[in-house]
Amino acid sequence: MIETLEFRLNDRQTRLTIDTGRPLLWVLRSNLGLTGTKYGCGIGTCGACTILLNKEAVRSCQVPVNDIKGKEVLTIEGLAKNGRLHPLQKAFVEHDALQCGFCTPGMILNAYSLILRKPAPTEADIIGSMDDNLCRCGAHQRIIRAIQTAAKQMRE
Ligand code: FES
Ligand code: FES
Repeated sequence: MIETLEFRLNDRQTRLTIDTGRPLLWVLRSNLGLTGTKYGCGIGTCGACTILLNKEAVRSCQVPVNDIKGKEVLTIEGLAKNGRLHPLQKAFVEHDALQCGFCTPGMILNAYSLILRKPAPTEADIIGSMDDNLCRCGAHQRIIRAIQTAAKQMRE
């Protein structure tokens, strides 16, 4: 069904007339041009398409756009503020926590939702929370270090 939806997208009030059953992933990438959110599997198993919906990590390939009505959506494009990288983005660069970078937006946003829930996550918390975000390049150890560094910086 075609409907006009209102929501906040990366801190901006947004209106969009759209087929409400369309997956959020494709609305972000194709209708709104926000290609930082990646298509990996399309069936909810890889985490490449992770975004925050009302501060909770969700897999946008599994969310019909109708579900974001009246809510806050954060994509990787909304994380840096005033031209300054978010501590998580900086820590991923500093720890070389990526190779091809395809999994990185989903990793960072999943890590952000963890830190919002748990500002001082243990290594076990990080592994438990990030386990279902897949990285085919094997950057996992460096990703864990980056999340620990960012969480510490965000507490200071
Ligand atoms: S593309 Fe959504 S979980 Fe893989
Ligand atoms: S850095 Fe390549 S998939 Fe993770």
